Amino acid sequence: MSSRQPVIVGVIGCGNISDAYFNGAKTSRLIRIKACADLRLEAAQAKAAAHGLQAMTVEQLLADPEIEIVINLTVPNAHAPVSQQILAAGKHVYLEKPLASDFNDAKAMLAAAAAKGLRVGCAPDTFFGGGHQACRAAIDAGRIGTPIGGSVAVMSHGMEAWHPNPEFFFKRGGGPMHDMGPYYVTQLVNLLGPVARVTAVATIGNATRTVTSEPLKGQVIGVEVPTHVNGTLQFANGANVTMTASWDVWGPPRMQLDIYGTAGTLQGVNPNFFGGEPQVCGADGQWQPLDLSPHPFSANNGTTKAGAPIANYRIVGVLDMAMAIRQQRPHRASGELALHVLEVLDAFERSSVEGRHITIATPCERPAAVPLGADESVFC
Ligand SMILES: NC(=O)c1ccc[n+]([C@@H]2O[C@H](COP(=O)([O-])OP(=O)(O)OC[C@H]3O[C@@H](n4cnc5c(N)ncnc54)[C@H](O)[C@@H]3O)[C@@H](O)[C@H]2O)c1
Repeated sequence: MSSRQPVIVGVIGCGNISDAYFNGAKTSRLIRIKACADLRLEAAQAKAAAHGLQAMTVEQLLADPEIEIVINLTVPNAHAPVSQQILAAGKHVYLEKPLASDFNDAKAMLAAAAAKGLRVGCAPDTFFGGGHQACRAAIDAGRIGTPIGGSVAVMSHGMEAWHPNPEFFFKRGGGPMHDMGPYYVTQLVNLLGPVARVTAVATIGNATRTVTSEPLKGQVIGVEVPTHVNGTLQFANGANVTMTASWDVWGPPRMQLDIYGTAGTLQGVNPNFFGGEPQVCGADGQWQPLDLSPHPFSANNGTTKAGAPIANYRIVGVLDMAMAIRQQRPHRASGELALHVLEVLDAFERSSVEGRHITIATPCERPAAVPLGADESVFC
């Protein structure tokens, strides 16, 4: 197949987030989503009708010889088994975060892929965004000197007020650290490199959650995972960064991602999105905005539910992996990066339970910077 032909993709899991992938793929000439599947065939049929795709059973989709990459958008505790099915069918897999709800299952997934010469890619891909790449370029250019520390926070009152089926957020593989933490820890690795150790305290703020969104309003969910987590990440480069991830905080959601250096401070942007307005200041205390214009995936191209403009390019991780397969180069949102991030996420609860620092064992390379340019052609 020539590199000019789109890579053919299938999707398993047709729930809440799937529209972001179906819509994102429509904007690209590098991939084409052919078919979608779900345990609930009616969910696959509804998305197929809405997006002009073929609805298939999981078995039919995995048997389709044209499909080269399967995007796994199932719930966290199905990430590993469904990915193993995809790999067993001889197809590359790109899946939503976290990589798996169990670390050993995630390791087994990467081992199975390596044994078959297949790729594993994993969300988030927001770190490809111009807002984040501009922060990375500023650090690499020495704008804040040598990084010493940082403060990261992602705090709100949880998911039971908006998601149509929020139970999985409060079961293994969920919680604020495993649900929102991947965006923040992945961006920290993009900025600072791998994590060496973690120390933390993690608690459950409310033993149950009562759903207030439709259609499951009134359902009571038992909480299995910590929902208020405070910790410190020490990076291999010596920087130590405090991090709070909580779904026990009332009031408007709060986020922070600041990096402190010997010569200045970087005020980063929300890792759940691609753009934003990062800035740096030096000893004079004057904030200077970073220039996002040389970086792709930074211009606003959509709006939030509240109507605020945002840059949303959720699909670029898949595009990069598709081109990397053709070009026989590493892809950026890799299984190895996601495994390192998962070990870090798990380490917060382990540190709290075991009362000690947790050393991070999985190796991880900082992903290559996204080349400068205007659009997805940066991958070609
Ligand atoms: N909803 C969001 O805004 C959002 C944002 C970013 C990432 N994510 C991640 O995306 C993933 C999916 O989230 P969601 O909100 O779309 O969940 P969802 O519950 O709305 O959808 C999941 C879908 O997967 C299907 N499914 C479950 N197990 C399956 C299996 N074994 N085989 C085939 N289909 C199966 C379900 O029937 C359902 O349709 C999660 O890992 C989540 O962390 C969600």
